[in-house]
Parts: sequence; structure tokens; C-alpha cells
Amino acid sequence: KERIILDVDPGHDDAIAIMLAAKNPKIELLGITVVAGNQVLEKTVKNTLNVCSHIDIRVPIAAGMSRPMVREQIIADDIHGETGLDGPDFGEITVELDKRHAVDFIIDTLLESDGDITLVPTGPLSNIAMAMRKEPKIVDKIKKIVLMGGAYTLGNVTPSAEFNILVDPEAAHIVFTSGRPIVMMGLDLTRQALAKQEVVDKINTIGNKASDLFVDIIEFFTKTQKEVFGWEAPPTHDPTTVAYLIDPSIVETKSMYTEIEIWSQLSYGRTICDFFNITGKEPNAEIAINLDFDKYWNLIYDTLKMYS
Ligand code: BDR
Ligand code: CA
Repeated sequence: KERIILDVDPGHDDAIAIMLAAKNPKIELLGITVVAGNQVLEKTVKNTLNVCSHIDIRVPIAAGMSRPMVREQIIADDIHGETGLDGPDFGEITVELDKRHAVDFIIDTLLESDGDITLVPTGPLSNIAMAMRKEPKIVDKIKKIVLMGGAYTLGNVTPSAEFNILVDPEAAHIVFTSGRPIVMMGLDLTRQALAKQEVVDKINTIGNKASDLFVDIIEFFTKTQKEVFGWEAPPTHDPTTVAYLIDPSIVETKSMYTEIEIWSQLSYGRTICDFFNITGKEPNAEIAINLDFDKYWNLIYDTLKMYS
């Protein structure tokens, strides 16, 4: 079993990552920490509580950083809407927010562990970086970090930068220079994880609360991804992290020395991945390059089916 803390900014694809992590038997979900990203913190927290209430996920949920470290805040309401998770109808919120700040939850959980916890961030890296700075002793306790963010090719907010990294490049810099093993699910991979119509139709046949929520989420996500990028089917970025942990054979990776651009104007927030090892520097990250499409969607189908 992979013991994980999931750090999210829901977000349509974050919600799917939550569904996978909470139910798949290969994952032990120790808690969900929430960060500002796709929307302001108040909204990403509410969305997390809504998703967990709706499909009865009972784990600690802690609210974290409402702002990036250095830069001014940006959000992705063009993709995720006014609430940050437009589309599905949620009922009453029945789960409570943990009293602890997400940064303290991460610190305490790691300090109490035997070094067997993997961090899984699917939003900006503000919570993770702040935890590393507040309590440097946690760094060696982190087993690995499997994150969604960046790209070794093209960005999605600027030609250079991907959203999660661009929201808080200084935080990403802290994480990528932490010395802990990093697996990066960048856009190069997640653009292969398209929720094609046949996939959605198959999941729709499950007919439980989780599969219905998935279908509602994808319906809205399909619209905005088409409007903004012209995608016929939306890329499901965030669940690739959890899918990789459940079955690493789903994703092919390549070791690359990777740095975050924090000085440039045009390339601010770019993940600069040394694909050809031109620098000769020791790789600090495994960068995802290829997805086994069928295995990925079968895994999501099988996991959603486990909900009652
Ligand atoms: C990432 O940005 C967010 O909009 C998504 O939730 C995903 O984490 C993709 O660039
Ligand atoms: Ca996200």
C-alpha cells in the first residue's frame, strides 16, 4: 500500500484524483490538504468538502496556503468556472474541515512517520514548499513526491509554463531543489490522458454516485477545454499521479535534471527539463513521457466501480 497525502486545488481533475485515491485498495489516503490554485482557497476548500461529502470520503481535510510565496495570485476560472468546480450539483456538506493548517498537518504527519509517506500534489506547490521551509526536518522523511505540473515541451498558460508551476514558481523551485525523489506528471503526459467519449460512456454504465459525478465533471470540463484549447476531449491531468502510484507500469518516465525558471519574464514558471542531459547534471526528477491509455482508463473504471 502507498501511504499518501494528497494536496489539491479542486478543480475538475483534482476531484477525480480524490475519487481514485480514496477508494483504490493500493492507496492509503492519510489526508487531503487544500491549496489556492484553480480558484481562491475558500472555494477550493468548499469544493473538496463537497466532493468528499457527496461520495462519503472520511479522511482529514486541512486548508492551507491562500497565496503564492512571491508572485501575485492567478486563478483558472476560464477552465474551472466561477466556483472552481462548476457543473455538478452537490448536496449538503457533511464532512468537517480539520482544525490544523495544511502546512502543519503535512509537517506533523511526516514527522510521526517512518519515512514511508509519498506526497501527491495536484495543485500549486505552496503548501509543500512552505512545510519544507517551516520544518526542514520533514524533507528527509518524504519518501517521494509524485506531482502534476510542468511540461518538458509546451505550457498551457504561457507558451513556456504550465498552470500549477506558474501559480507559484518559487514554491516549485523549493520542491525541485529539495533533494527528494520527484516524479513529474507534466502536460506531455496528461495530454495523452484524454477523457474520450467512449471512455466516458463506459464509466457512465457503472451508474453509482462516483461515476455520475465523474460524468458531470467531464461534461463541464469538456466544454471549457474545447473553448480555451480546442481539445475534442479534455486532458485529465491530476488523476495520472494517483494512477501512477497504483500501477507504475501505466506511465513511462525518463530521468532528467529539472530546474524551475524563476527569473525570466517570458519563461517564468517553466520546468526546464534536460532531456538530452546536455548539462551533465545528475537527474533530480523522473519526467513522465508516455501513458498506457487503456490501462489508465481501465484503472479509473475499476476504481469508480468500487463505490457503492
Ligand atoms: C493543472 O492546472 C489545473 O487547472 C488542473 O487542475 C491541473 O492540476 C493543469 O495544468
Ligand atoms: Ca489541480
